[in-house]
Amino acid sequence: MRRVTTISQLHRALDKLPGSIAFVPTMGFLHDGHLALMRHGLTRADHLVVSVFVNPTQFGPDEDLDAYPRDLDGDADKCRDVGCDIFFSPSRDEIYGDDHCTRINVDRLDSHLCGVDRPGHFQGVATIVTKLFNIIDPDVAVFGQKDRQQLAIIRRLVRDLNFAIDVDGVPTVREDDGLALSSRNRYLDDDQRRQATSLSRGLVAAHRAFDEDPQMSCARLLEAARAPVEDQPDARIDYAECVRPHSLTPCCPDEPVGEAGAIIAIAAHIGPARLIDNLRIDRPLPEGPLRSLP
Ligand code: PAF
Repeated sequence: MRRVTTISQLHRALDKLPGSIAFVPTMGFLHDGHLALMRHGLTRADHLVVSVFVNPTQFGPDEDLDAYPRDLDGDADKCRDVGCDIFFSPSRDEIYGDDHCTRINVDRLDSHLCGVDRPGHFQGVATIVTKLFNIIDPDVAVFGQKDRQQLAIIRRLVRDLNFAIDVDGVPTVREDDGLALSSRNRYLDDDQRRQATSLSRGLVAAHRAFDEDPQMSCARLLEAARAPVEDQPDARIDYAECVRPHSLTPCCPDEPVGEAGAIIAIAAHIGPARLIDNLRIDRPLPEGPLRSLP
């Protein structure tokens, strides 16, 4: 594995790699969820490039940019073990210099869900992902389904800006108790960590409610999703929404999900961490921990 920090080093390393490139962009502090993206990438192309860059433009002024966990050497070891070819960890200066003034906006898709509580966040994500796509020129880029809105925004960006890149979404990796893996889980103490499982329990409750009565209104499904989270002393829900799977537009609250299907998406602060999770409710529960929740 080549470890590079500048764009020119990266290009020299890429020149030596004939064949197709899969790309996994990350902000580091890698966990099994990231490794699943990488393993998927390796099945889709000849070579794998992973970037680690804690992108300042996607953090709001009161968010956790400075506290965001970092472990560059540990990340590089994990990438090497998985079979990554190039590990790219640029500095902030390498990416933005001091006079960067271009921003990418993906209208509409960024105006609800996380876009409401994190103004500017998706503009920062779209900008860095566009830049990394231009720098690396991959054939396939891999993102997690945990960040559904991000995935939808990147897909639209790729389509609208005519990037010749396949965007693959990989299912969420979870702990045995259902908690979706996230670098931000490390902000939780033991009790908050236990409370955080209420997000996935809420999603499974909504899934079961839908299974029992597919005619149940979206508003009632959302009540089922919210209830376990609202029971937690340290939880504050940012949103719980029932949305269409691809457009992520809200379903009508008084109506059942219907043939178009739905995802329930939830975001909540648990103590110091803002966590997100989502689940497609009109499909069987994915293999894994969610199936064995009580
Ligand atoms: O999902 C993330 O970790 C980030 O939003 C991404 C895609 C690496 C852009 O900084």
